Amino acid sequence: MTAVKHQSEAAVPGRVVVIGSLNMDLVGRAERLPHPGETLAGTSFATIAGGKGGNQAVAAARLGAQVTMLGAVGADAYGAQLVNGLKAENIDCQGVARIADAATGVAMIIVDEASQNAILIIPGANARVDVAAINGAEPVLAAADVVVCQLEIPYPAVLAALQAGRRLGKTTILNPAPVTAALPGDWLSQIDYLIPNEIEAAMLSGIAVDSPQDACIAAQRLRMLGARNVIITLGARGLVALIDNDVAHYPGTPVHAVDTTAAGDTFTGGFAAALANGATPHAAIVLGQSAAAISVTRAGAQPSIPYLHELEHQA
Ligand code: RIB
Repeated sequence: MTAVKHQSEAAVPGRVVVIGSLNMDLVGRAERLPHPGETLAGTSFATIAGGKGGNQAVAAARLGAQVTMLGAVGADAYGAQLVNGLKAENIDCQGVARIADAATGVAMIIVDEASQNAILIIPGANARVDVAAINGAEPVLAAADVVVCQLEIPYPAVLAALQAGRRLGKTTILNPAPVTAALPGDWLSQIDYLIPNEIEAAMLSGIAVDSPQDACIAAQRLRMLGARNVIITLGARGLVALIDNDVAHYPGTPVHAVDTTAAGDTFTGGFAAALANGATPHAAIVLGQSAAAISVTRAGAQPSIPYLHELEHQA
């Protein structure tokens, strides 16, 4: 197995820029998810820092990269709490706008006893990230090794970030979550690593993904549509990676999952950090997968994301 290049071995940590959402997660736990029209008594409630962008930034920082976050929050208590949380992880937040007339994004999350979740997002300030903000951040993108995006901010801003990353010669990663329709070919051609889950992969490729074999076919289809490399995450079944001309199934590590929220974000952030630190794609996948396996054994989004030393203790 290829050795993962950890931060301690790198002279200077690689730089990751995450462009994306910041949400306060309002998390209720219940025995099961309620049915439409049903009122159900839950067992606990917590407000927890989240948002796919914020989670991926925290994962990249905890797993060895120097991270800059670009995004937006409202000028409210949740926004201050989210930004302070990122700063506590040494994440540069100068590119996080405080929008006076918008509320910070929130995600209403219900987690059941089988660790499944249902998430409703109210974007708030996330919807105000625009192309001008991305254009204004060109020096930040120019200093990066890896540029990471998701789809919880407006699509034009995401495309501008991917295009700028590509033009500046950076490694570009898109975690297409959440996705509601196929992405045009001019998007996929900007992406070095496309990292969908099975539902997103099916939506983007038009191929139902019910098994690792299906995921191999969907990955090849997404490659034909323009993505350079494709990694389809499959939850407990691991992931399928199509890197250059090699397709491989990486089985999942058996763990006792209590909450899968942010598992994909932990993988993506860890993968990005490892690539930024010079790891091979294979080693970066192994690192991201190990981190995600730990994250599902803990509750919540950002609190569940492990630090690099926790992975080293597992090795
Ligand atoms: O990927 C998990 C995240 O999705 C949560 O933290 C929530 O904020 C939503 O954005």
